[in-house]
Amino acid sequence: MKNKLVFATNNKHKLMEIRKIIPPGIEILSLEDIACFEDIPETAETLEGNAGLKSGFTYLYYQKDCFADDTGLEVDALGGKPGVHSARYAGEDGNAEKNIEKLLRELGDVTNRKARFRTVISLIMGGNEEFFEGIVEGQIIHEKRGSEGFGYDPVFLPDGYDQTFAEMPLDLKNSISHRGRAIRKLIDHLSGL
Ligand code: IMP
Repeated sequence: MKNKLVFATNNKHKLMEIRKIIPPGIEILSLEDIACFEDIPETAETLEGNAGLKSGFTYLYYQKDCFADDTGLEVDALGGKPGVHSARYAGEDGNAEKNIEKLLRELGDVTNRKARFRTVISLIMGGNEEFFEGIVEGQIIHEKRGSEGFGYDPVFLPDGYDQTFAEMPLDLKNSISHRGRAIRKLIDHLSGL
């Protein structure tokens, strides 16, 4: 029988990304799969805090081994913004397009466009919490390119590549991305148990 692990998200892109790289012995369930329809609050001021709020909520109310991730885009010229506020950078009723518009507006013609995606995963198994981090360095380009992926992908050019995350096939994005790296650390950990 497969080991089941809840990924405390309903983000279809994230679920697709992780299901492509998780070993066949582990079945990933979403929040919907366990009939959790709560909007789990993400009120912490750090990625670790928010990841822990989501996994903690799931463990507390559903008693299932689980993990949650939180990601931020950290732009050097903006002092690390949008960071933990990446999802709602353009406001509560914003969306990816508005977030990107705001980012490009705030950056203007600044030449230092260095940025990184940072993902933190909080895993709770048997009541114990552990964290795994993944980082990918890159640049914010001046205009959107590509239609794959989600969020800030169309304006993020990872170092060493000439395609944005939104121009890459998912396998390639997974092999170098923040979340891919954090998830592989999680998988290594699970494999060693
Ligand atoms: P979350 O809290 O992990 O869902 O991530 C916060 C925000 O970061 C998302 O709403 C997206 O805008 C952005 N984000 C997270 N992961 C990615 C990614 O892989 N590509 C582009 N943007 C991302």
